[in-house]
Amino acid sequence: MRNIIKNMESNENVAEQIFCNEVAWHKLSVFLRQSTPSKVFIITDQNTQTHCLPYFREKIRLALDFHIIAIEAGEIHKNINTCTSVWATLAEKGADRNSVVINLGGGVITDLGGFVASTFNRGLKFIHVPTSLLAMVDAAVGGKNGIDLGHLKNKIGLVNPPQMGVVDTGFLKTLPREHLVSGLAEMLKHGLIFSEAYWEKVRNCNLAAAPQFEELIWESIEIKKTIVAQDPTENNIRKTLNFGHTLGHAIESFFLENNGLKPLLHGEAVAAGILMATYISSEICGFPKRKLQEVSSTICNYFNKITFTEEAIEAILRLLVFDKKSRNGQVLFVLLEDIGRTKIDCIVSNDLIYTAFGYYKNF
Ligand code: GLY
Repeated sequence: MRNIIKNMESNENVAEQIFCNEVAWHKLSVFLRQSTPSKVFIITDQNTQTHCLPYFREKIRLALDFHIIAIEAGEIHKNINTCTSVWATLAEKGADRNSVVINLGGGVITDLGGFVASTFNRGLKFIHVPTSLLAMVDAAVGGKNGIDLGHLKNKIGLVNPPQMGVVDTGFLKTLPREHLVSGLAEMLKHGLIFSEAYWEKVRNCNLAAAPQFEELIWESIEIKKTIVAQDPTENNIRKTLNFGHTLGHAIESFFLENNGLKPLLHGEAVAAGILMATYISSEICGFPKRKLQEVSSTICNYFNKITFTEEAIEAILRLLVFDKKSRNGQVLFVLLEDIGRTKIDCIVSNDLIYTAFGYYKNF
């Protein structure tokens, strides 16, 4: 862990600044003291306000008057109406160009809070304090901010990195297990697209073994930072981070837009997307069959199987066209030739996607 923190610090002028545990709180305190903001706003949701804000206050022992803006929790609130209400509160409470926004929460808060801050007064400084595993290893890293358009995930947004990320794994103690596992989907993805050694570690990890699991979190953040630093605006290598997300986002959108269905956690949808994208990879990119078995059983060990009706599959295929990576109406997948060897912009036929759903169902 020490090495990774050291690397993070030594990279601080060239890459996104993400700090860990005590170092992170120290860096945040110094930043808040030295930048003398006119006001500091904390954007949070009702859950994190209860479970994480007290811990945040314990760690930041500064005599600062924080203005708390709490929104309702959940992906269904990651929309323009919530933004309008947060912008109005910022205006009412006198936020100006010298104000700072702290986004304290999971991926919904870091995505929406980053978007609100980036657009208010043409841009306020903001800091991410991710409190979920998913936000720590993915949403809060890489500067993507945004909101959903109806049920279309992250359709509106921009890339604008925060001043810094404060990652404290102490927040994970209050996280329900299914949210922890949801974050694990992104860590598994980092292994599959970047490093077989890391994949081996994550697929065999013990979520309850604190120090070892913490090491894997820092490593995941490093992988994402390394990829983003090479291609911040997603023209080539950053696209690999979308592995499993083409289908994953469409699946998530389908469950969001169907009121009778319980919305899926992001990682649950992405895990299914990863399994199916790996199957497709084995069909058209030569991804080894033995490793397909390994990926499929790993995903099925951690995640409950999602049931898809014929109508659901049809609807998900229609939603694929809205994927941000589609070009001229053609959906483009990230696939794998092997673990750590990616292929971007792959065209996949609808027939093969259907077969992938069949493989998923019967595995
Ligand atoms: N979550 C994918 C990316 O940040 O590029």
